[in-house]
Amino acid sequence: MSKDISPKKVSESKSVMTEMVMPNDTNPMGNLMGGNLLRWMDIICGICAGKHCEANVVTASVDHVSFTSPIRVGDIVTLEATVTRAFRTSVEIFVEVFAADIKGFNNRKCNHAYYTFVALEDKNKKPIPVPAVIPLTEIEQQRFNSAPRRREVRLILSGRMKPEEAKDLQEYFLQNKL
Ligand SMILES: CC(C)(COP(=O)(O)OP(=O)(O)OC[C@H]1O[C@@H](n2cnc3c(N)ncnc32)[C@H](O)[C@@H]1OP(=O)(O)O)[C@@H](O)C(=O)NCCC(=O)NCCS
Repeated sequence: MSKDISPKKVSESKSVMTEMVMPNDTNPMGNLMGGNLLRWMDIICGICAGKHCEANVVTASVDHVSFTSPIRVGDIVTLEATVTRAFRTSVEIFVEVFAADIKGFNNRKCNHAYYTFVALEDKNKKPIPVPAVIPLTEIEQQRFNSAPRRREVRLILSGRMKPEEAKDLQEYFLQNKL
């Protein structure tokens, strides 16, 4: 039986994870260690991608991540991941990270990132086609529209695409007279 890859709404795979920062998650300053946060981000994005693709997925790349606001031991960290767009065998996932203290005060956004996952066939572990994304809200549509440009940047930076092949980026630069 062939796999169902009918298009899916973003809400169908939205994934949320909540963690409390424990002492063994921190660096010597008592802040959440960047590597631990990246691990949680990777996990929640992988869950979201797996749900959307209904397949096993692997992380192919992570875009730039800045750590703008320190997260303290005892803080509650909430990670929200949504799919932005599907390509042929890969999906782009957007993750936002929020932190607050245990009483819910000092609630703030700490960072965000885009992850790319590739869906693999169970037996031979080869990339397989993924369902398209149906963007419904304005922000979902914006992220959907801008995804091809981000994809071209990461494919160029990873040496998988020549700059002259990046059609969406070229169009964007021309339209915006950059
Ligand atoms: C990701 C992986 C499956 C791609 O395999 P591949 O043989 O290069 O497959 P393809 O060339 O068919 O590419 C498959 C998809 O991956 C995408 N891709 C590959 N490398 C990428 C990168 N660096 N950034 C973004 N997308 C990438 C391709 O664009 C393609 O997407 P598309 O079909 O939607 O256009 C393979 O490189 C792999 O297994 N990497 C290790 C993954 C892993 O173990 N991650 C955990 C971290 S240790």
